[in-house]
Amino acid sequence: MTDDQELAGGRPSGPFRLGDRVQLTGPKGRLHTITLREGGELHTHHGVLRHAQLVGQPDGSVVANSGGHEYLALRPLLRDFVMSMPRGAAIVYPKDAAQILAEADIFPGATVVEAGVGSGALSLWLLRAIGDEGRLVSFERRDDFAAVARANVETFTGHVPANWDVVVGDLAEELNDTVAEASVDRVVLDMLAPWECIDAVAEALTPGGVVVCYVATATQLSRVAEYIRGTGLFTEPDANETMVRGWHVEGLAVRPDHRMVAHTGFLVWARRLAPGAIPPEVKRRASKSSYGDEDVELWTPGAVGDRQITDKNLRKRVREAERAAEGARQASGRSDAPDESA
Ligand SMILES: C[S@@+](CC[C@H](N)C(=O)[O-])C[C@H]1O[C@@H](n2cnc3c(N)ncnc32)[C@H](O)[C@@H]1O
Repeated sequence: MTDDQELAGGRPSGPFRLGDRVQLTGPKGRLHTITLREGGELHTHHGVLRHAQLVGQPDGSVVANSGGHEYLALRPLLRDFVMSMPRGAAIVYPKDAAQILAEADIFPGATVVEAGVGSGALSLWLLRAIGDEGRLVSFERRDDFAAVARANVETFTGHVPANWDVVVGDLAEELNDTVAEASVDRVVLDMLAPWECIDAVAEALTPGGVVVCYVATATQLSRVAEYIRGTGLFTEPDANETMVRGWHVEGLAVRPDHRMVAHTGFLVWARRLAPGAIPPEVKRRASKSSYGDEDVELWTPGAVGDRQITDKNLRKRVREAERAAEGARQASGRSDAPDESA
């Protein structure tokens, strides 16, 4: 174990130590998050809890304050931390982070690039997944957001990981000056316009490497998927979204929660082909960098995936519909044809 890992927060288990973050659930479920300090105290109108009472206690202990009120003490899990940490930009929710780790196939020792770093939520998940042997290079256009992300990562892990670089700048401009060609195993893009970065990503990714884009809207999803497809440098893009519905489980009252986070974003991902490789049966389309009038013209039913009915089939459906209407008319005792003069 390295010195860094010995620092508070480096190891999220074992008895509480000075420097650990601890989540306390007090009377009526009230939450307090504290960092254990020499001589530290939590003052509430229920009394005083001395930090020293927690040091050396196992995670998950219950301690009482000076007023006899009990607190359950637990180290926050990563998902607890990211949901409550300070945010510069919207974060990747834990359900999506988990899915990104799976679809991007993030592995211990991987070299990973992400952009933008935003508040650092995804950075924390990536750092955990790549481990000490991996390398994470995070790009962020805004230095104020990068500062929030650095602080959040330091707060949670207790140090700024030596295998993490934050580059302030635009990924499309900085990536190929920062990493060697074909040297990156995985790229995760969480930004408004990921298609602007795909060319740079294609150069940085190793053959077989994975790019995953996390986007909020279906129009972004379509645009980035078409851009990836249009380069001819990747496998066919795949896409999905993750919906997680919580359940209430109490006695016989076992049912889905009444509320859920219905939408966060979509994932689209593809793998870098070897140079010059042309996979069998891949439909190639022109690369699109923007939507213009001519694109709108292309939004025909066929282009948006609607199956076109043949004339013969349509005539059959008309006959079916007319027969059904005739049947309904007879059943209701109206044998007359509809009054077309009305
Ligand atoms: C939704 S936030 C990212 C949140 C982050 N993944 C997290 O989990 O906390 C999007 C970020 O991308 C940054 N960004 C947008 N386009 C970028 C680009 N081309 N290069 C670098 N950063 C970019 C924005 O400044 C913003 O901070």
